[in-house]
Amino acid sequence: MNVPEPLRIRDFLVYRGLLSRAAQEALVGDIRGLARAAPMFAPTTPGGRKMSVQMTSGGRLGWVTDRAGYRYQDHHPGGEKWPPIPARVLDIWEAVAQTMRAPDCCLVNFYGEGAKMGMHQDRDEGCFDWPVVSVSLGDDAQFRMGNVERGGKTDSLWLTSGDVVVMGGAARLAYHGVDKIRFGSSSLLPKGGRINLTLRAVEGV
Ligand code: SIN
Ligand code: FE2
Repeated sequence: MNVPEPLRIRDFLVYRGLLSRAAQEALVGDIRGLARAAPMFAPTTPGGRKMSVQMTSGGRLGWVTDRAGYRYQDHHPGGEKWPPIPARVLDIWEAVAQTMRAPDCCLVNFYGEGAKMGMHQDRDEGCFDWPVVSVSLGDDAQFRMGNVERGGKTDSLWLTSGDVVVMGGAARLAYHGVDKIRFGSSSLLPKGGRINLTLRAVEGV
């Protein structure tokens, strides 16, 4: 993969248009296959609120949330082991993560019309030495980047299909979220919506 210099915004590294249209289409096919083996589900927060995204995972561990809390576990809520992370997704990690460590989890979030994600830290991984790599597919999303402490000044950026963001170093524990998507802005998914993949290395689970 030809990896250009990223944009750096508050220690978030943004690789604009890293993935070609053909690569994006192949990834969508891979994720459809993954979601056949591990169907998307509507997660609820520990406080009992239904999240607006739908999610599933691939890899040794998947991220889940329900009344019992946020966590990684080795099986889908339906009981089956998670399917493997698709090889093309691992290739993206290898191209930008700058570590020999392989990711344990590929969390797949689907944003339909009106879906968003509140400001949060990714901090259930047990160790923060490795980056989180985030892949955007489909509709545009307004991605908001904040600080390691909650609150304060933030910046936002519209992510488009094929963009890859690396949250490592000082950005690893920075708050981030998705304010909104522009439903139907991309033709990648025929029925609209956005897929976000986040790759994480997880310790101690
Ligand atoms: C996330 O932080 O889990 C998702 C980020 C995104 O959808 O771009
Ligand atoms: Fe996140």
